[in-house]
Amino acid sequence: MCKKSLAAHGSQSPLFLRRVRMSELKSLYEVADAFARDANVSKAESEVRYRRSVLDPEAFWREVAQDFEWLRAPTRIKNTSFDLNDFRIRWFEDGEMNVSVNCLDRHLADNGDKTAIIFESDDPNAPARTLTYKELHAEVCKLGNALRNLGVQKGDRVSIYLPMIPEAAIAMLACARIGAVHSVIFGGFSANSIADRVADCGSKLIITANEGARAGKYTPLKKNVDDALNLPGTTSVQTVLVVRHGPSTVDMQMPRDRWYDAVMDGQPETCAPEPMNAEDPLFILYTSGSTGKPKGVLHTTAGYLIYAAYTFKTVFDQKPDDIFWCTADVGWITGHSYVVYGPMANAATVLMFEGVPSWPNASRFWEVVDKHKVTIFYTAPTAIRALMREGDAPVKRTSRKSLRLLGSVGEPINPEAWRWYYDVVGDARCPIVDTWWQTETGGILISPIAGATAMKPGSASLPLPGVQPALVDAAGTLLTGEAEGNLVILDAWPGIMRTVYGDHQRFIETYFKTYPGMYFTSDGCRRDADGYYWITGRVDDVINVSGHRLGTAELESAIVLHPSVSEAAVVGYPHDLKGQGVYAYVTLKEGVEADDALAKEIVALVRKEIGPIALLDQLQWAPALPKTRSGKIMRRILRKIAENATDQLGDTSTLADPAVVDQLVADRKNH
Ligand code: WT7
Repeated sequence: MCKKSLAAHGSQSPLFLRRVRMSELKSLYEVADAFARDANVSKAESEVRYRRSVLDPEAFWREVAQDFEWLRAPTRIKNTSFDLNDFRIRWFEDGEMNVSVNCLDRHLADNGDKTAIIFESDDPNAPARTLTYKELHAEVCKLGNALRNLGVQKGDRVSIYLPMIPEAAIAMLACARIGAVHSVIFGGFSANSIADRVADCGSKLIITANEGARAGKYTPLKKNVDDALNLPGTTSVQTVLVVRHGPSTVDMQMPRDRWYDAVMDGQPETCAPEPMNAEDPLFILYTSGSTGKPKGVLHTTAGYLIYAAYTFKTVFDQKPDDIFWCTADVGWITGHSYVVYGPMANAATVLMFEGVPSWPNASRFWEVVDKHKVTIFYTAPTAIRALMREGDAPVKRTSRKSLRLLGSVGEPINPEAWRWYYDVVGDARCPIVDTWWQTETGGILISPIAGATAMKPGSASLPLPGVQPALVDAAGTLLTGEAEGNLVILDAWPGIMRTVYGDHQRFIETYFKTYPGMYFTSDGCRRDADGYYWITGRVDDVINVSGHRLGTAELESAIVLHPSVSEAAVVGYPHDLKGQGVYAYVTLKEGVEADDALAKEIVALVRKEIGPIALLDQLQWAPALPKTRSGKIMRRILRKIAENATDQLGDTSTLADPAVVDQLVADRKNH
């Protein structure tokens, strides 16, 4: 169990100390009376709910489940155990429902004409497009019918590789309607990454677009799919549906490739929803771990939907008139839970934005807020830091009067960025919910409840109802009171992932073996004297770059594909904008000369292998890597060198050749 040593948190973690001064632990922002007055949940109510949810989770979730439309109401609510000898996670297990019915049909009577999606294009001059719930329902039904005609059946996997356009939500919901399991692949992944993901789950069909646009630049999505399907292992794919989006032409390979609008044409606007057992799979989403290839995180039907919906309504204090904008791409879990499923299960109006924060200028986010009267805005710290660097003026020239609540997600937010977000963007008027969660958790686990929880800049604050976090030391001993350690969750909540697709053993090993009987988050965390949680960052070999997870093992495998490279080790290091950057140590083969051209080739290779999101920020040539006598790379030391904390290298006596470290330190100084 090597994770224990990786996870060791003897003292305070340097990343955390760099971000949060100790005096910050006491800084408290009470909920404003004006907000609390109309809030869905009061402070007292939130405390009552939490106690009830923990004392009697059955009763708590039974009541929440009543707000959903069931084909067959569940009688059994919670059947879970993290005990390795008796492991099971089943929620609402004898219930039957269809997720798309809960997100669409159920709203038609009262909210049919309410706007479901406002689409804002990358191009600020393009007219906005909107779909009402009635229209969205019709599109989803048409696509559901089209998919069935193309032979997609319940349980089949469908990959979705689309830009942030309404068709992405339509495609997800259409899969849910017919019981197909979707696997959304972020548009920033390359052909190789698509191929890996398609091969792993054996998708029958891919839905893509001719192109995607970001900051006026075009991504050839269809071309990437073509390249992926030329790679081995992808023969399961029978059909590629291509959404027309933007002007570029593409090669259509008949009969495999079909235009989306052609297959939609003439389809009926109703489609019989597939009855799904509560524990039937809803989707797979690939995410990076410490080892090997990305794993297919599998979420199921009722537990996931109910958890996404409940947390959306609770955390964001959602009201019928809200215009909710989550800037995350649907290629990530945040887009699944808080662009599509959570909001739509609550009949919310969501804004989908294809562009980026800084294009055509640094006011874009706030212009879109004003244009569509956005009331709740949810983004990542990396975007906030990037915009903060542009100063207050681009913000202040917009009104933002419609905003009433702000959210943060994806990585720890530094108090300085939090205050800028609060004071400048929110005019010191809007509470901030700093939401901690993971792809694996399905929905938010630790966060303030808007209107109920006093905020501390930089802290995700307190667990939501049904969530029992705890801190353990490296040996797995539970820590009490004020403490810093590894964050675990003691009992299951409805939104927890059920398995790693095709590899249940890996699921158990990754999350439940390090600390037997507990879900291990792989995050370090501090709990302060008020019981507030402060996430300190990953303690495994996952790097969180701009809120996106990159696995060091994947990056290293890509680097060593270069014929001149003999070995590589990748670590994260603190990065002002991205939170963490990627630092690569590369050892070349005997006789190969290191130069800038070679470094560029390696950077380009990683980009090609994984995708544009996998950028090596720093590359240092390493004559050799520091290893133990048993040949294990000492990443702890490499992290310190990357951080430029060469005075804190610690014990190097167990190294096979301590001189290696001196060389790396000397080279780092000249780097
Ligand atoms: C990792 C999960 C589901 C959110 C999107 C990223 C980090 C996420 C926070 C936060 C501090 C955070 C953690 C976590 N993280 N939100 N509010 N404060 N850290 O999902 O790609 O599965 O990454 O993101 O390290 O383990 P993900």
